[in-house]
Amino acid sequence: MQAIIFCGIQASGKSTFYKELFFNTHVRISLDLLRTRYRENLFLQACLKTQQRFVIDNTNPTAEERRKYIELAKAARYEVTGYYFETSVKEALARNSQRTGRFLVPDRGIYGTHKKLQIPTVAEGFDYLYLVRLKQGSGYEVYPILSEPGSFWQP
Ligand SMILES: Nc1ncnc2c1ncn2[C@@H]1O[C@H](COP(=O)(O)OP(=O)(O)O)[C@@H](O)[C@H]1O
Ligand SMILES: [Mg+2]
Repeated sequence: MQAIIFCGIQASGKSTFYKELFFNTHVRISLDLLRTRYRENLFLQACLKTQQRFVIDNTNPTAEERRKYIELAKAARYEVTGYYFETSVKEALARNSQRTGRFLVPDRGIYGTHKKLQIPTVAEGFDYLYLVRLKQGSGYEVYPILSEPGSFWQP
């Protein structure tokens, strides 16, 4: 069974990537949507108990935040895949400024998450780990992140 964990600052393209790749197959667990950790945990437990595929669509900037999901998923015999959404603060601020209403997040939130960001590594326990770059306009480039920290495959 497949568990997917996203990592990326606000407006790095996570939810759009989910919609394009996982909408038909994976339940989306997102704090933006569920609002509280209590609700998030109940939905996560329901997925684990029923062996439902899911995506954790949160910023998950630190290894510590990711660890909880990795441990729970592995204990429930899931295969754990991570996607790291690489983006500059400047690009994220620009994409955020295009959003409206409740989708617009305060710029200080983006700076704050960027400051905390620890780029995920295979050593955290991911079975597969990928780096995602948004292409200009639309589309993505996806590269596997190799087990050596900080290195990733490029054509
Ligand atoms: N490949 C892309 N190229 C350009 N803009 C994109 C791309 N993917 C998403 N966006 C835009 O960037 C903004 C943030 O995307 P979103 O998926 O909501 O990010 P996140 O879930 O990480 O906060 C949205 O306005 C979205 O339309
Ligand atoms: Mg989102």
